[in-house]
Amino acid sequence: MWKNIQPAPPDSILGLTEQFKKDQNPAKVNLGVGVYKDNNGNTPILEVVKKAEQTLLTSQTTKSYLPISGDPAYGKAVQKLVFGKDSDVLKSVRAVTVHAPGGTGALKVGADLLKKFKPQARVWVSSPTWANHNGIFGDAGFKIDTYSYYNPESKGLDFDEMLTDLGKVPAGDIVVLHACCHNPSGVDLDQAGWDEVVRVADRQGWIPFLDFAYQGFGDGVEEDRYAVECFGASGMDFLVASSFSKNFGLYNERTGALTIICPSAEEAAVAMSHLKVVIRTNYSNPPAHGGLTATIILDDPELYEQWLAELAAMRDRIRAMRSGLVQGLANCGVEGDFSFIERQRGMFSFSGLSDEVVQWLRAEKGIYMVGGGRINLAGLTTDNIDYVCKSIAEAMQSVS
Ligand code: LMR
Repeated sequence: MWKNIQPAPPDSILGLTEQFKKDQNPAKVNLGVGVYKDNNGNTPILEVVKKAEQTLLTSQTTKSYLPISGDPAYGKAVQKLVFGKDSDVLKSVRAVTVHAPGGTGALKVGADLLKKFKPQARVWVSSPTWANHNGIFGDAGFKIDTYSYYNPESKGLDFDEMLTDLGKVPAGDIVVLHACCHNPSGVDLDQAGWDEVVRVADRQGWIPFLDFAYQGFGDGVEEDRYAVECFGASGMDFLVASSFSKNFGLYNERTGALTIICPSAEEAAVAMSHLKVVIRTNYSNPPAHGGLTATIILDDPELYEQWLAELAAMRDRIRAMRSGLVQGLANCGVEGDFSFIERQRGMFSFSGLSDEVVQWLRAEKGIYMVGGGRINLAGLTTDNIDYVCKSIAEAMQSVS
């Protein structure tokens, strides 16, 4: 069956991890996949997660199926976190949430649902965007277009161009927006920027689909939800794909959520009924462990505080690595102003390094970055940062 079929290329992000694992270079550094690492280069299980898992182990009485949409308590906990507990979206019951297998699963469930009811729509993604957005929406059968976002010259946001492009998106099309910690660029809109985007969405009538995978990695759990709050207050239809992979470190528990927000509770109930069909015919119902664990933490004030503290520690370490990288590159005599790295937020930086430099670093130094020069700052440690900076300096000399 497969004799005459060409193999598919490896995934541009997860395929890099496979390659990294095989690399024999003892100094190798993985700055590719968006996974948090501590200063020892490990991806730890949060202490608060360990505690909640203990509670779960002793209190759990069954492994029977969850409902198609997941545990209702999980849905409620997600909504509180994503919108804030006092949000009108919660009070008016205008939102429905399902537990999806990770943020990716949430995007895919949303994409399949939208394809059923908006078959002619186009999906608009930022230029650039997370490579898998193209994969997910493309495989769901959508034509994909891009709107301006990142300006490689200024290493910042092309806000005017972005607004102009979004102002031309027709009603009924779908616009994927990164609610915070833009992946791959690390460049975010400020609050005034989001106010404008919401106005344009309202005027044009396109459907916002917010990818919210990094809540808490920008400035904090509350600060990072501004975009979601803004769209929530507008009363328009939109979707949010959120994830506990990064902020709870629950990567392999596939703990995400899709929330659909509607103008009324009646419409939200209709949306939920169709969401269930999409899920039932795909994976039937979600895995339980990660969602139950997250719910224990989110519903317990003490554990919640502990989680916020552990999340802040991850955020602070990444920030320290941003400063360390800027300083380290300057110390190694790398020409150019890299201060933009400190202004970017979240796990990633668009380093501005060319694809040739990225390839050279991989082949010669065992340093793995995603094509386009995306760096996962969390892959840097106080032990490897000098090696990375020196290697970048050498690469710039060798390749140019
Ligand atoms: C990333 O961008 O590296 C992460 O979101 C992991 C993934 O699934 O690609």
